[in-house]
Amino acid sequence: MVRQHRYDVLVIGSGASGLGVALQLAEHAEVAVLSKGPLQEGATLYAQGGVSAVLDRRDSVASHVADTLAAGAGLCDAEIVQFVVEHGPESIQWLIALGVAFTRSPDADGRPEYHLTREGGHSHRRVIHAADATGRAIETTLEGLARGHPRVRVFEHHVAIDLIPASKLGLAAERCLGAYALDRRSGAVVSFTARYVVLASGGAGKVYLYTSNPDVATGDGVAMAWRIGCPIANMEFFQFHPTCLYHPKAKSFLITEALRGEGGRLLLPDGGRFMERFDARAELAPRDIVARAIDHEMKRLGLECVYLDISHRPSGFILGHFPTVAAKCGELGIDITREPIPVVPAAHYMCGGVVTDRHGRTAVPGLYAVGEVACTGLHGANRMASNSLLECLVMARSAYRDIAEGLPEAPPASCVPDWDESQVTDSDEEVIVAHNWDELRRFMWDYVGIVRSTKRLERASRRIQLLSEEIREYYGNFRVTNDLIELRNLVQVAELIVASALCRKESRGLHYTLDHPHPDPTQPPEPTVLRRALR
Ligand code: FAD
Ligand code: SIN
Repeated sequence: MVRQHRYDVLVIGSGASGLGVALQLAEHAEVAVLSKGPLQEGATLYAQGGVSAVLDRRDSVASHVADTLAAGAGLCDAEIVQFVVEHGPESIQWLIALGVAFTRSPDADGRPEYHLTREGGHSHRRVIHAADATGRAIETTLEGLARGHPRVRVFEHHVAIDLIPASKLGLAAERCLGAYALDRRSGAVVSFTARYVVLASGGAGKVYLYTSNPDVATGDGVAMAWRIGCPIANMEFFQFHPTCLYHPKAKSFLITEALRGEGGRLLLPDGGRFMERFDARAELAPRDIVARAIDHEMKRLGLECVYLDISHRPSGFILGHFPTVAAKCGELGIDITREPIPVVPAAHYMCGGVVTDRHGRTAVPGLYAVGEVACTGLHGANRMASNSLLECLVMARSAYRDIAEGLPEAPPASCVPDWDESQVTDSDEEVIVAHNWDELRRFMWDYVGIVRSTKRLERASRRIQLLSEEIREYYGNFRVTNDLIELRNLVQVAELIVASALCRKESRGLHYTLDHPHPDPTQPPEPTVLRRALR
């Protein structure tokens, strides 16, 4: 069996960002793509609403920039916002050229134009979509091209465990050389080295008990980047999507915000609307406001869920625009053309991440981060709907250009020592992993969720220290498994979220604490950047 793989570029992750970089780079280089499970499994596949971009003559870059800055509550990097928004339309053109079939509808003269929907925080219709399964259309198109590309080699069921620093070879110069990965099918740990490494490993919704995210979203990229020495920023800003389906048989199913964009109303069990009491924009207020309003009403009235109703629109319109939501709800006996949908908020998007510049470069030479794992400065304290896929696509292109330019000068892929298993045995107490996994996600939900307080954060911090010690010991003694790798990373991510939240002595964007319920008027807002002291 091959235990060492060498490539020009190693891409860890196969969502819109990973496959976006890989496909473009493959014109210049041999590329390896790792995915934890099947290639298409990741948040991209489940994206519903769409991708935001300035595509309508009446819309403007200035307006999209202004909306993004407003949602980001003073913490966006204005240059990055301008850069990403300006490059949005060319990324959409790239997807269309690859064959992504976005939804069209006739314009006033009967010509088939792309249909643009609306979502919270956007002051124009600017979200291009493929009905309510936009991510599937994008991911399956990219997947087909990656599988068929002679210079892209796909390694499914390979979980990156840790990045390999140059110090592993005793080199003084700092550089990322590659990664060790567990081949989940054989159980062997193999090494991948490359001239450049791109982290495109997505988010960390699984750190919370309730999430819209798929199982692979365990924050591995942030944890690996932290361990190799990258600064990590803005982890206190975790976005909770207001409307996930509430049903005992539904796991992590989102009800797209576009449903509110097309007139959907949030209701209490007695049929009364409540969003106007919280914000003049009602159901189309930014997500943090809607999620907090729902949380408030659920706690005030002791409710298990609230309801989202679109049944006042014609059923042909509903089924045409929301076939995926209608089908999923239909399977569970809910007819969305006739009745409201039970919904609750759930952890959805990690606004913070690995600090990068506009090329996707991290602080460690040779290492890039793109997509949800990265913190470019686009989202600030709160991400606007559909700006994430936009960021994945624009930053994938930007990173590709930078890497392609650097390749002729980059050092060749190294030869690294094999993974050392001489000191470990097979685990005899898997229950520890399962127990700690459940405990972590539950207290993160209860203490570090939509509404926080210093006391709750400190309580979470103490528990995280205990779990970290236990996992460190376990990791040192037993052979790695997928669950252990994920748990180790989730605890690391939880620690970064809580540490960042404790640093911020104010409420801003997605971070709301009862002890400081307003933004701090005495200081200009700054991102929270954590740096690890490396020995
Ligand atoms: P992902 O698509 O999540 O891919 C991550 C990849 O990394 C996967 O291939 C995974 O296997 C791999 N990976 C992770 N860890 C490892 C490891 N250790 N080793 C190897 N591989 C690893 N955003 C929008 O803009 N518009 C929307 O309409 C929208 N709807 C959404 C709906 C849902 C239900 C969800 C969950 C998110 C939605 N988002 C939306 C957010 C958006 O989908 C994600 O932010 C985006 O798709 C992230 O893409 P990515 O390429 O960074 O990561
Ligand atoms: C949704 O469709 O509501 C999700 C959009 C997003 O997260 O950007």
